[in-house]
Amino acid sequence: MAETITVSGTTKQEKYASLLPQLKSLAEESDQYAALGNIVSALKYGMHFFWAGLYVVKNNELVLGPFQGTVACTRIGFGKGVCGYSWKNKKTVIVDDVNTFKGHIACSSESKSEIVLPVFGKTGDIVMLLDIDSDHLADFDSIDELWLTEVIHIIENIVNI
Ligand code: SME
Repeated sequence: MAETITVSGTTKQEKYASLLPQLKSLAEESDQYAALGNIVSALKYGMHFFWAGLYVVKNNELVLGPFQGTVACTRIGFGKGVCGYSWKNKKTVIVDDVNTFKGHIACSSESKSEIVLPVFGKTGDIVMLLDIDSDHLADFDSIDELWLTEVIHIIENIVNI
């Protein structure tokens, strides 16, 4: 059955709180690619992000996975760009102005700010990165980090590796 997502609320916090249970429902899909694709779509359209997607760790590089938005670079080296920096430093990265981030990889000139969060596998290694772009400067803050970390936990349960 086709899924529909309805996000209610006026504040960022209210919107995330409205979306999270729906993401958990989408995560019940047994096929991980189908589940991840719907979760990324729900994030992008539910929160009106410019771009939302997953980069998957494969053979010591990041390879583009399920995403919603403009076409994107398909491979990112370890330590390269915002995603590679998050991967190398094993931490969430918030960039208020991508043009000030040394080595930023611009998949679109419309991308102005970005948040990247690592997805950890059972062994504690990073297996994916959730990358979200905004076409507005300084669009991400601690509220996004808090709620998107909950989304990361949903994704970690899906990939279960
Ligand atoms: N900006 C990212 C690259 C991925 S595109 O934004 C989708 C980076 O610098 O790692």
